[in-house]
Amino acid sequence: MEIEVCPLSELPPGSSRVIDAGPEGIGVYNCDGEVFAIEDRCTHDDGKLCEGDWEPETCQVICPRHGARFDVRTGRALTLPAYIPVDTYAARVRDDGVVVVDLPG
Ligand code: FES
Repeated sequence: MEIEVCPLSELPPGSSRVIDAGPEGIGVYNCDGEVFAIEDRCTHDDGKLCEGDWEPETCQVICPRHGARFDVRTGRALTLPAYIPVDTYAARVRDDGVVVVDLPG
């Protein structure tokens, strides 16, 4: 299932947004011109991961609860206290310039 996020012009490099989709919400990131999507739930203790800060220069999101870092490109947990990766979703820019996220099913 394809979910429309916004026009790419509204999600320039270095910006992000959270959309109400999937079981927990989804954070969508423009990291240096490429778009990525991860589940808005930290694997450490279910914090709202995507409401925290992120670093566009490293493509890392920082959990606002206890500070674990994840790579938004892969979902990989980079620092404790998290060690399990977060779910990622396929994100892309459609031919008409709209950012979309593909949800399974
Ligand atoms: S809930 Fe994210 S680091 Fe603890």
